[in-house]
Amino acid sequence: MLISVQEIPKVAVEEMNEIHSTEVDMVNKLYEKISEWENDKSKEQEVLTIFEEFLKDVVDHFLFEESMMRESNFFAYPMHKSEHDRVLFELKSIEKTIKEKKDFKMLKEYLLYNFKPWLISHVKTMDTVTAMYLSNFF
Ligand SMILES: [Fe+2]
Ligand SMILES: [Fe+2]
Repeated sequence: MLISVQEIPKVAVEEMNEIHSTEVDMVNKLYEKISEWENDKSKEQEVLTIFEEFLKDVVDHFLFEESMMRESNFFAYPMHKSEHDRVLFELKSIEKTIKEKKDFKMLKEYLLYNFKPWLISHVKTMDTVTAMYLSNFF
């Protein structure tokens, strides 16, 4: 397992907590599939399929938060959105590399050393502040 749900702090908006918990399940599934692939290279297509599902989930996660921020005229929207955009840009460039090279070691390291610490700290800071504001607005 890459991330346990307990590592992700709860925020003041329940839909966001549900989205975060689904994302944790998804990224764990991807991480486990990469570990299987390390011992069995025939799992290549499965890794790519799960990566696409994960990427779509991340896009939906960010879009949900961004639309709530826009609706409520949240003051820190540009800052929060630029963090989302930065991570999406990283994931898109990884998508390109893994599709070309079919080598998932770099993806595994990215998830462990970049995505995981980023997600935990992003939820702890920007998502927490945003959810607090949203919960007073809606
Ligand atoms: Fe979030
Ligand atoms: Fe966020």
